[in-house]
Amino acid sequence: MHVPEKILNNYDLEKIVDTSDEWIKIRTGMFERHIAADSEAASDIAYQAALKALDSAGIRAKELDMIIVASVTNDHAFPATACILQKLLGAREIPAFDISAGCSGWIYAANIAKQYIENGICSHILIIGVDLLSKIVNWSDRNTCVLFGDGAGATIISKAEPSDISCFIDSHISSDGSSYDLLIQPAGGSRQPASEKTVKDNLHTIYMEGNKIFKLAIRSMNDACHIVLKRNNMDIRSIDWLITHQANLRIIEALGKKLRIAEEKVIVNIEKYANTSAATIPIAMDEAIHLGKIRHGDLVLMATFGAGLTSGSLLIRY
Ligand code: UT7
Repeated sequence: MHVPEKILNNYDLEKIVDTSDEWIKIRTGMFERHIAADSEAASDIAYQAALKALDSAGIRAKELDMIIVASVTNDHAFPATACILQKLLGAREIPAFDISAGCSGWIYAANIAKQYIENGICSHILIIGVDLLSKIVNWSDRNTCVLFGDGAGATIISKAEPSDISCFIDSHISSDGSSYDLLIQPAGGSRQPASEKTVKDNLHTIYMEGNKIFKLAIRSMNDACHIVLKRNNMDIRSIDWLITHQANLRIIEALGKKLRIAEEKVIVNIEKYANTSAATIPIAMDEAIHLGKIRHGDLVLMATFGAGLTSGSLLIRY
């Protein structure tokens, strides 16, 4: 994982919009978030995370067979941030592309990577969830600006050796486009190209109907978890850790209750990073591994939810 240096806490936000530390903590569980510098773009943060992932996997960038970047805050509308990262890393001529699945992007990328490893085309795939939502929030809208932070989480998914305990067991991804407009950056694409008016009307920033998304998030993550558990004849009691998208502590707790998983098995770090979109799950996983919580052999279930509205789950043995 990698996050920008600058930290913005709830007290700092009190000086920007009409909010309070108390409201943010009670309603979301968040306290501080990392914010990228003006000069930092998605590929800069992703690059730092990628270097750490390569180092911990013991793999050189030249050995990568594919790079997938999941982001909604890419360096440019085109080319893909993955191609910029390919250059920064000095990777070979391999497929490098971005996917847009909102906060679910990292699990979508993992799901795609699994297919390319299984069909034998690739041996090592770098997947990265990176978002700098601070660049596209409306800093005068208290409904959204307090919720997000910046960061990246990078992972190498590799072909297993027969002796490996670690394995990618299963993953499920889905989308319900019927509610695509509940979480959207309205302008800047072909529907509403950038104009003086779109800038003046703040249409290049995040618009979210938080209340509606709240309920859908719990339901769809619960469904996604049950699909992989059922498909693998597993019971929630066999799961050692649950890592969900970190969008709201109340969503995480409600999902834990619905799944009937013990509270102490649920990984939460929302107070330190807020919602880093596609990066929340790999950041939470990295921290939990470094804190000695997740150990080799543990079964880890992950669940996500985001713009689209996308959702998904991922089951691994670490
Ligand atoms: O990552 C992508 C997926 N995103 C999510 O999953 C987000 C899901 N949604 C949520 O987490 C929650 O809906 C929010 C945290 C966004 C909002 O919490 P809520 O409990 O649903 O609050 P609300 O929108 O119903 O607003 C309650 C009140 C309103 O005031 P009135 O109308 O009752 O007077 C808001 O204006 O809280 C007010 N409010 C705030 N007050 C202080 C909204 N934002 C703030 C704020 N500070 N930052």
